[in-house]
Amino acid sequence: MSFPKSTQSIYSISPYIGGDVTPTGFVRRVVLASNENPYGPSESVKKVVRDYTNKIHCYPSGAANNLRQAIAKAHDLDHNWLVTGNGSEDILHMLARTFAGPGDEILIPQHGFGVYKIATLAVGATPVIVPRVDFKLTVDAVISRVTERTKIFYLDHPGNPIAHYLTNSEIDELLERMPSHVLVVFDSAYSEYMDASDYHSGTKWVQKYPNVVMARSFSKAYGMANLRLGWLYAHPEIVDPIHRIRPPFNTTGLSQAAGIAALDDQDWISHCVSLNKENLAKFISNIEALNIPILPFASNFVMARFNDAAKVYRYLGEKGLVVRPMGAYELPDYLRITIGKAEEMDELVTVLKSCPVL
Ligand SMILES: Cc1ncc(COP(=O)(O)O)c(C=O)c1O
Repeated sequence: MSFPKSTQSIYSISPYIGGDVTPTGFVRRVVLASNENPYGPSESVKKVVRDYTNKIHCYPSGAANNLRQAIAKAHDLDHNWLVTGNGSEDILHMLARTFAGPGDEILIPQHGFGVYKIATLAVGATPVIVPRVDFKLTVDAVISRVTERTKIFYLDHPGNPIAHYLTNSEIDELLERMPSHVLVVFDSAYSEYMDASDYHSGTKWVQKYPNVVMARSFSKAYGMANLRLGWLYAHPEIVDPIHRIRPPFNTTGLSQAAGIAALDDQDWISHCVSLNKENLAKFISNIEALNIPILPFASNFVMARFNDAAKVYRYLGEKGLVVRPMGAYELPDYLRITIGKAEEMDELVTVLKSCPVL
């Protein structure tokens, strides 16, 4: 039998491997594999989800009008500059579909979030990897890879799985030097966790430069990964073509209503962010005491290096603790560990102490 074929570019994509993978013999009890908020969403969000029954037969607002108003109010932005998506990965894909195609190049930081490469190849564009030095990105490395064919630069801000970020002054320099035909995408999925004084989520650069946009997520600090909600902040000139290709109902009424409730309870977000900070600090000191090397950290996960990461992954998994192997990111010696609840992190440390292959 002969089946219709997709494009060569699509067959060169390695499908995304998520934290939902559970190898045989693993017990999925404590999951520290997908950088989710272990405390989940606020009570008000849970109530919206529980009560959302009488509108299931109706189409949602395609443009998510009320949610965009709520995001605009919460972040002091103009709702005409917002587009919502089925998670921020939907936003990343829509940007590639709108602004790039065959023959174009898209810059991606080395070890950058896997969706960047998938979105690039899906539109037939060429991924150009910007190498890091000591796991850090530099302005020179980015700018030196820009050509006339470069259409997008996906900037993980801060990154996953490499938590590095460019500081305010580095970004000022980057954007001054970046040619205006390149769309710079701040992927600020983890920005709620960031309180460093040299970090900014990106809104101020979107307002200053016509070629800068910012993608945000409800999957991390907002604890709503399962509801699939993200948003883009961009000038209306950028928003216009995106709305033309956006699947008309790409976010559900349920996720829109939950998003509105979540934005209205910023105390819950602050509470979760401060618990993450406490649990992270304690875990760092415990893991350092075990002499396990780690990469610089920033948000809600830690990259830890092991002599035999595959064996440690299996040992933990069989004891009910699922972390994320990093082979797909060409970092096979590392495991990415999401910061969970205090008791989960304590258990992880106890199990690591008993690991025969540490
Ligand atoms: C850097 C980064 N960007 C974007 C996403 C996508 O998040 P979502 O599609 O759930 O909003 C993730 C998820 O892990 C991420 O780590």
